[in-house]
Amino acid sequence: EKGGYDHFMLKEIYEQPSVIKDTYRGRLHANEGLIQMAGVEDNLEKFLNAERIIIVACGTSWHAGLVAEYVFEEFARIPVEVEYASEFRYRNPIINSKDIVIAISQSGETADTMAAIKLAKENGAFVFGVCNVVGSSISRETHAGAYTHAGPEIGVASTKAFTTQITVLTMIALRLAKAKGTLSNSVFHSYLQELEIIPDKVKEALETNDRAKEIAAVFKDAPNCLYLGRGYNFPVALEGALKLKEISYIHAEGYPAAEMKHGPIALIDEHMPVVVIAPKQGHYDKIVSNIQEIKSRSGKIIAVVTKGDTQVRELADYVIEIPETSDALSPLITTIPLQLLSYHIAVMRGCNVDQPRNLAKSVTVE
Ligand code: F6R
Repeated sequence: EKGGYDHFMLKEIYEQPSVIKDTYRGRLHANEGLIQMAGVEDNLEKFLNAERIIIVACGTSWHAGLVAEYVFEEFARIPVEVEYASEFRYRNPIINSKDIVIAISQSGETADTMAAIKLAKENGAFVFGVCNVVGSSISRETHAGAYTHAGPEIGVASTKAFTTQITVLTMIALRLAKAKGTLSNSVFHSYLQELEIIPDKVKEALETNDRAKEIAAVFKDAPNCLYLGRGYNFPVALEGALKLKEISYIHAEGYPAAEMKHGPIALIDEHMPVVVIAPKQGHYDKIVSNIQEIKSRSGKIIAVVTKGDTQVRELADYVIEIPETSDALSPLITTIPLQLLSYHIAVMRGCNVDQPRNLAKSVTVE
């Protein structure tokens, strides 16, 4: 049932090109310049009149929400707040009927996310779900929604659910951008084309597997690890760190690269591996300076770069090359080598990759 893979997690990592396609199939029509999702079409007025979108989720789904914040604000110019469901539900939040709440949950059973939805409904918000499990509690409790088509995710560490959540949320943002006219026609069309070929680029990114394994062998005994990224790849840094800590039990932290100098830089010495997400699109020059700051303090740099990069290659100790894509869609690609890196480190440390200690696949208690 693991389809020839040693673990469900690895199988699920490798399924990403096909499940991203399954998730956009019938919804993304790049040649016609259309995005059609019933849950969005049926409620288009609500989305267009929304003064704000509040995203509630936990864990990896919360990271997908952070990526969505950047995408929604850039594409559709709607203000977005991303909240941990557990904090949102207990802090007497301001919610009203002009708000749309988007709840993101792979399992559709997460107790805190469910409670946040109930609270939002009581306060008159329209609640939209992005779930993977059909018929799950959250998919039933929300007013409308759009499923991810990741298929069953067995590995406790979420991988394909994350990238399919980003796929759905990006499509929603694009649909709203079209309705609002917040992206030029040509930019809108180029995103549709780009999203359509993302599965091929994910496949290419999976070819970093051997490289990730080599790097894993070098760092498997590190007690700590930092992950840095900027913009769209800041949430990817958080997700990379979460994947490493939950399956390998190495203490890892993700940071927006520019925040490093406000504290974490004190941790950097020759024993500290720092994974930097540094694709060519985005804030490249800024991240290059951040890499120089790490290097001058002897940190060990593992950089995820765009194929053909030369500048970061000169500074970094190890590079992992990924195919080029637009800044906004890059999390779908940059995430892949980080999943593979944590997978191999965990395997080399003899950890139970599919069922890490202390964790459950569905967190149905708060
Ligand atoms: C991390 C992980 C968890 C879940 C979180 C939310 O790999 O799997 O952080 O993302 O428990 O779960 P769902 O998405 O089912 O609500």
